[in-house]
Amino acid sequence: MSQENFHFEYKVFEASHDLTEEDKLLLEEARAATDKAYAPYSSFKVGAAVILSDGSVVSGANQENASFPAGICAERALLATVSSLHTHAVVKKMAISYFNELGTSNVPITPCGICRQVMAEYKHRSGMPITLILSGMEGSVWVISDAELLLPLSFSGKNLNR
Ligand code: THU
Repeated sequence: MSQENFHFEYKVFEASHDLTEEDKLLLEEARAATDKAYAPYSSFKVGAAVILSDGSVVSGANQENASFPAGICAERALLATVSSLHTHAVVKKMAISYFNELGTSNVPITPCGICRQVMAEYKHRSGMPITLILSGMEGSVWVISDAELLLPLSFSGKNLNR
């Protein structure tokens, strides 16, 4: 028997003004993208923005549906869009924010499990980790150097023996 463990580190910034210029701009894009959300059921508007290896920035937001499971999170809506429009681009970083119409929006958001799985897939595809910049509309910001750190022992194409 052996005892294994998992441990990761992430950076905590008091506010967005402490970020690098690139990260600050990307977070501003994510915050602005909350306006693109279609969230009539939850009133929880999530915005996400990525910067690609060619420097372009693309943003997206959650899109809900009266058939609740048909809704899609901002992160996955955005990654599918990026993969469709910039097929060979590498996603370097993703900033995520939210505007909660029913409450406060000042604690960093963390992506759901399905989005973590999808982020891991895009990392495996490109071979490049995706840095996450997580925040709300104000307040502290968490920076995680590799989204897959949020999904230890993830299932991947390797498990399919391909
Ligand atoms: N949502 C996201 O878009 N991203 C997340 O990381 C968490 C949740 C969306 C899904 C749904 O439209 C709303 O937020 C409430 O769960």
